[in-house]
Parts: sequence; C-alpha cells; structure tokens
Amino acid sequence: MKYRPWMIVPALAAIVLSAACQSAHTQSSSPAPSIITVPPDEMTKPPGTESVQPAIGDSTPAGQPTPVQSAPKGPRKLTYNSCNVEGQVIAITFDDGPKPGQTDRLLDMLKERGLTATFFVIGKNAAAYPELIQRMVAEGHEVGNHSYNHPSLTKLGAAGVAAEINQTDDAIVKAGAPQPKVMRPPYGATNAALNRRLNEEFGQAVILWSVDPLDWKIRKASHVKEEILKNTRPGGIVLAHDIHASTVDAMPATLDALLAKGFKFVTVSELIALDQPAPAASPSPVTPQSASR
Ligand code: NI
Repeated sequence: MKYRPWMIVPALAAIVLSAACQSAHTQSSSPAPSIITVPPDEMTKPPGTESVQPAIGDSTPAGQPTPVQSAPKGPRKLTYNSCNVEGQVIAITFDDGPKPGQTDRLLDMLKERGLTATFFVIGKNAAAYPELIQRMVAEGHEVGNHSYNHPSLTKLGAAGVAAEINQTDDAIVKAGAPQPKVMRPPYGATNAALNRRLNEEFGQAVILWSVDPLDWKIRKASHVKEEILKNTRPGGIVLAHDIHASTVDAMPATLDALLAKGFKFVTVSELIALDQPAPAASPSPVTPQSASR
C-alpha cells in the first residue's frame, strides 16, 4: 500500500492524548503499596484492605466544614478495592460466568428489583453464551474482563497477558457489549507493573473487592447472605460468582436485605466515577491499620 503520512496523524494524536490522561491518573493515584499478589486459591483476603485509605464510613466530625473535594471524574487510580463515596452506594459483582441456568436466573432477580450489577466474565464463556452477554447489556449491567481462560496473569509473559485480555475483549464486544473499561484479574493476582499495563495499554481499571463471602468455597446460600450483609459498607465492592447455584440462591434475600438497609446499587464504572479523594487525615493516635477494620 502506498505510504500516506496523513493517515498516521490521528493515531499519533490519540497516543499523545492517551499518554497525557494516563500521566494525570498516575500522578493522582495514591502512594499506597501496590505490589499485590494473591495466592491462586482465592483464600487470601483482598489485597489492599489494610491500605492507607481511611475506613469507609469515616467522616468529618460534626461542626467542621467538609473538605473541598476536587474529584476528577473517571478512573484515576490503577486499582480499586472500594470507593470513597457519599451515600450508601455499592457495586455488586459476579465473576466467572456467564453460565446458562444460573446467570439468567440471577438476571431475572436483578431485573425484578430494578438493580444493576457488574459481570466480570470469562472470555470463553462469553464466546459460548453471547445471548447472556446481550441480555446483561440490554438490562443495564456492566460487562468487565476476567480473562479468557482464568489463569493467574502474574504467571504469564507479556504476550500471554495480551492474549487473555484481547481475546476476552473481542468476545465481549462481538456479543454486543461495549469495550470493557474494568477488569478483574483471576484470583485477584496482580502486581504494580501489571496494574499499570492493564490501565495504560488496555484502558482497564483493575477492580478487586472489599467484600468476599467465599461463595466459591462455602456453597451455602445462608452463609453467602450473612457474610455479604455483615461486611458491606458504603462504597463497597462485593465479590460473588454467578456460576454457583448456592450464590444465586442466596441473592433474592441478600439483595432485599441490602435494599432494606438503604443501599443503592450501581455498576463498578459508576462507583468509580463517584469516588472522591479521601479527606485529609486528622491527627489521631489511631493507626490506619487499626482504623481499617
Ligand atoms: Ni474468577
């Protein structure tokens, strides 16, 4: 093909703009330790729960002015366990599907209550069941990337990571969903370099969680419900799996109880958009570690 120099101008402009945005994100991200690796058994608590962020629910003491928030919109951190939001807003997320017989049952429950969720789907399942992806989109849910084959991404080389992410994006988009803006690494296994690459190269924020009912391990609906209700706080990100009947069985009562507590459900991208910088820490003898639990 004949060389046409004007063809590359838009591409170069896009690269420069992208780099500028990412630079802003990087500068505003928290200095919290970001080297994160979770063993692949998913038994470890979500990394970052002992982060320097104040405990959710901390607020300005009565009578003091609320600090001025200059909240940038959109993802401004590389990775999130939860968000700092006003109001009782949460995001509930379902991993590893879609799975016929379970995901559609869950979609019915969400639809009945007018709730939206985020589905971190496995690419090969999205490719096998595109009609379930289409239904998620039609009913207002967000579809995120959870890799194609569910490997631990930290054990793959650069090409392997790219294949897992790109093949999954392709399956999701082919099924009719928007290009994912959020991803969840299988097993929560990630590290600082991978977080940066997933954001900068693939445009996907890395979403972990603040509530883990261990529903993949303890297949009991009552346990799933109790754990979620006990641990969900405003700004929280709830982890669950729509491939397990016990998890889906738990949902009607869990969702109703969360609604009764006043929680409002948004997608992960919506939650991130509501995220505000944490208020400046006030002098206190309480350490961040002890305040976070
Ligand atoms: Ni998973």
